[in-house]
Amino acid sequence: MTTPQTLGFIGVGDLAEYTITGLRRGGYQGRILLSPRNRTMSAKLASDWQCEVMQSNQDVVNNCDYFFLSTRPADCLDALRVLEISSDKHIISVVAGITISQLHEVIGDQINIVRTMPVTCAKAMASPTLVYPSSPAVNQLFDYCGNAIVADDEEAFNQGSVVACVYSWYFALFNELIDACSNQSLSKQMSSELVLGMARGAASLAIQDKGNSPGEIAEAIATEGTFSKLGLDILKQEAAFEPWLKACNELKSRLNK
Ligand SMILES: NC(=O)c1ccc[n+]([C@@H]2O[C@H](COP(=O)([O-])OP(=O)(O)OC[C@H]3O[C@@H](n4cnc5c(N)ncnc54)[C@H](OP(=O)(O)O)[C@@H]3O)[C@@H](O)[C@H]2O)c1
Repeated sequence: MTTPQTLGFIGVGDLAEYTITGLRRGGYQGRILLSPRNRTMSAKLASDWQCEVMQSNQDVVNNCDYFFLSTRPADCLDALRVLEISSDKHIISVVAGITISQLHEVIGDQINIVRTMPVTCAKAMASPTLVYPSSPAVNQLFDYCGNAIVADDEEAFNQGSVVACVYSWYFALFNELIDACSNQSLSKQMSSELVLGMARGAASLAIQDKGNSPGEIAEAIATEGTFSKLGLDILKQEAAFEPWLKACNELKSRLNK
C-alpha cells in the first residue's frame, strides 16, 4: 500500500493549515484538494503549498481516494450527510469526540474511516499522530509530518486524545520556566533556547532509553546532594504534579463519555 496520491480536505481551518504545511514540508507530493468554504485560507494554502480549491465538497470527494473530515465537531455530521460517497473512498477523520460508529450511522458502514489526531507541531514535522484503526496508507501519510502512533482500539484512541491536549499545556509550562530562569544576566532569548533545548533533550533521551521510565531517569539525575534533587524535592513537597493529574483525569472522563 502506498501513500494516497490525492488527498482531499472537507473543512479548511487551522488543522488543515498546519497538517498541509507539515505534509508539504515533509515532502508529500500528491495532489491536495480543498473544500471552497473559508476562501481566504483555501487561497493561501493553494498559493503557498500547491493545493487546488474545488467548486464544492462533492467535487473534493469525487476527485480523491482519501479525504480529511476536518470541520468542527458540531458541523461534521451535517457536512457528511449531504455527500455521495462511494465505497472505495477512505475518510480520515480528525474530529475530536466523534466516534467511528457515529460517522457510519450517517454515511453507512461500507466506507473506510480512520480516526487521527495530528497536532500543531505537524508544521515542524514532529506530530506524534494518534491513528485508529491502523491503515498502512494513512500511517505513511502521517510519517511525512511526524510519526503515526497506532491505537489498538477506539477506547485507547479516546484515552490517547487526552495527550493531544496535554501537548498544549507544555507551552504554558515552557513559558513559566523561561520567565523563571531568566534574569539580568540571562536574557529571555537565552533562557528560551535553553529551556526548549532541555525539553527536547529530555524527550529525546526518554524516547531512546527504553530500559528506564522517565521517573527513573529523573531519580538517576537528581541524586542526593545535587541541585536537581533540591528543586525536585520542592516540587514534590508542594504537590506540583497533582493539578496535572487532576486536569488529565477531568479530560479522560469527558473524552470517554
Ligand atoms: N486545531 C487543533 O489544534 C486541532 C487538534 C486536533 C483535532 N482538531 C479537530 O480538527 C477539526 C477542525 O478544527 P480546526 O481548529 O481546524 O477548526 P476551524 O479552524 O474552525 O476550521 C474548520 C473549518 O471548517 C469549515 N466548515 C464548516 N462546515 C463546513 C462544511 N459543511 N463544509 C466545508 N467546510 C466547513 C469552517 O468554516 P466556517 O468558519 O465558515 O464555519 C472552518 O473554516 C475539529 O473537529 C477539531 O476537533 C483540531
